[in-house]
Amino acid sequence: MIAESIQRAVHDECSRPGAALGLDFYNRHLVPVALYSAELAAKLGADPEVTAISAWLHDVSAVLDISTLPRHAELSADHAVQMLRERSVAPHRIELISTCIRSHSTPLPIDSHPIEAVILSNADAMAQIAEPVFWTHFAFGIRRLSFEDGRRWLASLVESKYSALIEPARAIVATHCARACAIFSAYPPRVPDAG
Ligand SMILES: [Fe+2]
Repeated sequence: MIAESIQRAVHDECSRPGAALGLDFYNRHLVPVALYSAELAAKLGADPEVTAISAWLHDVSAVLDISTLPRHAELSADHAVQMLRERSVAPHRIELISTCIRSHSTPLPIDSHPIEAVILSNADAMAQIAEPVFWTHFAFGIRRLSFEDGRRWLASLVESKYSALIEPARAIVATHCARACAIFSAYPPRVPDAG
């Protein structure tokens, strides 16, 4: 119930005319993060509502204002607290969701944090690996990187995130990772010398 209302609110923000992170971000990032979070929550016995709410809200500050991107984990956690208080969510659940969002930026190992936080951080990385088209758009269309800077950033994003994933997450996106690594790391085939 709360998760659906939060999902709708985030969807509406992404649908706003002129939103820098619009519906493509919703469909190509937030939806995959929610799906991978649900898959890992079922496998690892985590609270499915906490993981769903955390997934929908984990980047909310950047959705509202893309200039907050460098501090979006912390600011999204603060914004989530506000939204969940307005919906009368129990304080201990708000605290847990806030912890998940605050610590989502790199994949966390098992037992380092609450399992829901481990799941969100891994699901976020899995979605980045599985949706190379969106992140290519992000590098060149949103961040306006040069070809080589963008290619390097994308290759290192995929490689560094994949190498930090927990085992069950790695198994789910192994083929996506191979595909993305091939795209971002490969140079075009050499043209044979003329003559
Ligand atoms: Fe994210």
